[in-house]
Amino acid sequence: MVMNDERDPIEYGPKTNALKTLRDKVYFHRLPSYGNRIFYSLGFMALTCLLLLTVTGITMGFMGQTWWLFSPWGIFVRSVHLWTVQAFIFILILHFLVGFSTSGFRAPRRMVWVFGAIIFCLVLIQTEFGYGLRGDFASQFRAVSGADFWNGAYLGYWLNPLNYTQTFIIHTAIIPLTIFFLFLAHYLLEHTYGIARPYRKDISYKMVPADHRVLFIRGGALVALILVLAFFFHSPYVPAVRIADIANSDPGLVATTLQQEFDHTSGTATYLDSIDPYTFDTRKVYVTVPYAQYIATTGTSTAASTTDAAAMINTLMPLAQNGLYESILDQENPSANNTYSLRFLDDLGVPEAKASTLNMDTEQWGMVKDETGSVRKLPPGSWWLFPLAAVNSMFDLPDNPYGDRDAAFILGFFMLVFILFPYIPYLNRLPELFPFARLIQGEREPKKPPGR
Ligand code: HEM
Repeated sequence: MVMNDERDPIEYGPKTNALKTLRDKVYFHRLPSYGNRIFYSLGFMALTCLLLLTVTGITMGFMGQTWWLFSPWGIFVRSVHLWTVQAFIFILILHFLVGFSTSGFRAPRRMVWVFGAIIFCLVLIQTEFGYGLRGDFASQFRAVSGADFWNGAYLGYWLNPLNYTQTFIIHTAIIPLTIFFLFLAHYLLEHTYGIARPYRKDISYKMVPADHRVLFIRGGALVALILVLAFFFHSPYVPAVRIADIANSDPGLVATTLQQEFDHTSGTATYLDSIDPYTFDTRKVYVTVPYAQYIATTGTSTAASTTDAAAMINTLMPLAQNGLYESILDQENPSANNTYSLRFLDDLGVPEAKASTLNMDTEQWGMVKDETGSVRKLPPGSWWLFPLAAVNSMFDLPDNPYGDRDAAFILGFFMLVFILFPYIPYLNRLPELFPFARLIQGEREPKKPPGR
């Protein structure tokens, strides 16, 4: 086996600089000649994105939501974060297409692919938790759709995008740390085995020194492009919907929905694949508990009976109109958990209607767009969710009561095939049908001097 790219031995002595030693440990030193082409810089460029995401993410986490939504620097950093996601996913797709076309996933590199493919799936999931954190209308709408999806996938007990604290921890700690460790495994294996040699015997190559300068120039150009795009095209923002707005513009709708919560006939109360988090008693959560809380804080002595829905709803309506009702709902859960208020908004049907006017409803392939309502506007929405949108549309899942469950199973199956691809007989020979390996790894004809 070729170990560590047949590297030149490097001497270490008492005066060797520690940083240089570390650099020497992580670098590839010698590569097959095609290894200096851009196809093999894609992994480094993906890593550059990962670092930029970490820096911008930590900055936003420190500064807080008001900063990233409304201050000029906050909007810029948020836009850099979003454009980096766009670049990251695009580069990862190119990167795995290179690994695929050159059969770079064959033994002993099979686990290099597996670790990379798990990272890719996690990155896609991570983007949805990111949208949930933004704090605008897209966050509300995507959180509700996401909660439906995880519920349908039987994972609602563990994953609830309506819970802001949970979303924050998943997006800023759990998934990034998992990606980091998977990347270490991915890179250490690849570094040990070296870049894959051509599987086609008719492709010849020689070993050359790795060109780190060109690698950093490519990484630098990518960062510059991201900064320019973020400067000119900001991450979108459409204000969130509030219960108070609807209680003022359409009080009848709110009163009727409160009555439905009381009668257990609302969307939440009759939710079909009701696992957690929708197993709560809507009468208690939306009517009797907020009412009791109001009585306790105001010290009113003549409380209505807990079966007198009309009296309780009449008391709650002014609270809904001045914004207190939404706060009471959110405070019924410990920590910043918006499950109750977002489910109530969903029962009102308002987010769905607004999403439809913004062209981001599920039937409108909304998950591949952002609030810009189109993938053609900049920044483009989450085009990487195209497979999910296609599955939804092909199998008519939005109209199917078990649509979320079916979508989760179909996508889960494809993700599993993608991850285990190097181990699947016959399928793992698929790249041999295409001629791309020669384009990526083949020797280029040397340019003839003019006049000969
Ligand atoms: C955080 C994401 C990732 C980073 C930072 C990363 C980084 C790298 C680096 C630096 C290399 C060595 C040089 C190169 O080919 O660029 C590499 C190789 C490789 N990666 Fe990734 N990678 C990531 C995700 C993925 C994904 C999603 C896949 C596939 C599903 C994948 C599959 C491979 C394969 C097969 C190789 C070996 C290529 C060869 O030896 O010819 N990687 N990766």
